[in-house]
Amino acid sequence: MTLLAPDPACFIKRRKQLLAWMHRHGGGIAVLGTAPEKTRNRDSHYAYRHDSDFYYLTGFTQPNAWLVLIAGTEDQSILFCEPKHPELEIWNGLRWGPEEAAKHFCFDAAFDSGRLNDELPRLMAGHPRLMTTMSRPSDESFFGMLRGWVKQAGQQVRGARAYPTNWLDISDVLAEMRLIKDEVELATMRKAASISALAHRRAMQAVRPGCHEYELEAEILQVFRKNGAQSVAYESIVAAGPNACILHHRAGHDIMRDGDLVLIDAGCELDGYASDITRTFPANGKFSGPQRALYDIVLAAQQAAIANTSASHHFNAGHEAAVQVLTRGLLDEGLLKGTFEHALETAAYQQFYMHRTGHWLGMDVHDVGSYRTPPLSNEDQPWRMLSEGMVLTIEPGLYVRPTDEVDERFWHIGIRIEDDAIVTANGCELITRDVPVDPDEIEALIRG
Ligand code: GLY
Ligand code: MN
Ligand code: MN
Repeated sequence: MTLLAPDPACFIKRRKQLLAWMHRHGGGIAVLGTAPEKTRNRDSHYAYRHDSDFYYLTGFTQPNAWLVLIAGTEDQSILFCEPKHPELEIWNGLRWGPEEAAKHFCFDAAFDSGRLNDELPRLMAGHPRLMTTMSRPSDESFFGMLRGWVKQAGQQVRGARAYPTNWLDISDVLAEMRLIKDEVELATMRKAASISALAHRRAMQAVRPGCHEYELEAEILQVFRKNGAQSVAYESIVAAGPNACILHHRAGHDIMRDGDLVLIDAGCELDGYASDITRTFPANGKFSGPQRALYDIVLAAQQAAIANTSASHHFNAGHEAAVQVLTRGLLDEGLLKGTFEHALETAAYQQFYMHRTGHWLGMDVHDVGSYRTPPLSNEDQPWRMLSEGMVLTIEPGLYVRPTDEVDERFWHIGIRIEDDAIVTANGCELITRDVPVDPDEIEALIRG
């Protein structure tokens, strides 16, 4: 086994950016921990996944690690991580250890995380301001530890020097930084998106009436891993027929029947970055009349949302455009009654479309960042303008549950079409289109 460190350049740059922000806000010490390891059952663990904020600033993916940034007379970046341990490494794999980590990840210093209780109070002494991701802690127990170190720092300085009496939340600062992706991040996200698109193609090629949801999940996972993705970005949704109307239906044991639609919402995580794709297609390779009618409406809604995604639109413009097309289509097909204006005003579409048209995408599938104009993120603020380098999903859908008011032909049809888009000056770059959305192309792919 060998350990691979990412190119440290972008992580150094982000730490510098955060340190500059800290200086602008009076200086101080920032402490961030990575995510804890989690037990699945007895002595088995879930696959380890680092904390996204921590990774963003360090590039470091091993557990039990901490970052300390000091914005003082001299700036410092310090890592705490697990020490080398030849015996445990035989069981669990190589550890970087502080010495190698400092070298490869370019920290000013690195210590064994077993020394946190000694070093943190010492490092905190002299700094009245402590900064951390208070609204997004990697681990709730982290605050208890921080409080303990602050208390010790107070005891050590005995009133002669400052110690952290002022806590500052840096969750929003990091969210704003994370919202605009740099070229390194965009390159990774394009790769993750292509792998996921390939996986969706494979599922379309593998589907047949009689096949189980879990079989298509297996096809998807095979492509993710075979192409180097470390994980899923979220648990895969594979929904046969009526299950598509359950928005987060996990791939289960249900069978796709002749005439059913299949909805797959699945995306891989590559090098810490998510992708998020949904496609809906006929198990037998041919959309029925009602299925095709609703599919065309959702596709037109997505096209309208895409046309309203650019650096000169606000975040909600895509949703507003999609909702208009969905409403018009639902009226045309008789699923809604009355006038267009009244249906829109009363949000009548919500009976068939109960989620929003998109969300930020990044290291987390529902990535951080305010949807409203900063500095406040409350609902009274106007929607924020999109900017180049933001990444979001565009994912309208329609879900028809059986009711007396709806023609039976449409019952149990659930459709969502979801692509990932990078905002550009004049529009957006769709990075997930290696898998078709056009219904004729989809049918051709299924039939081979
Ligand atoms: N896969 C979760 C979502 O589309 O938001
Ligand atoms: Mn999504
Ligand atoms: Mn999705």
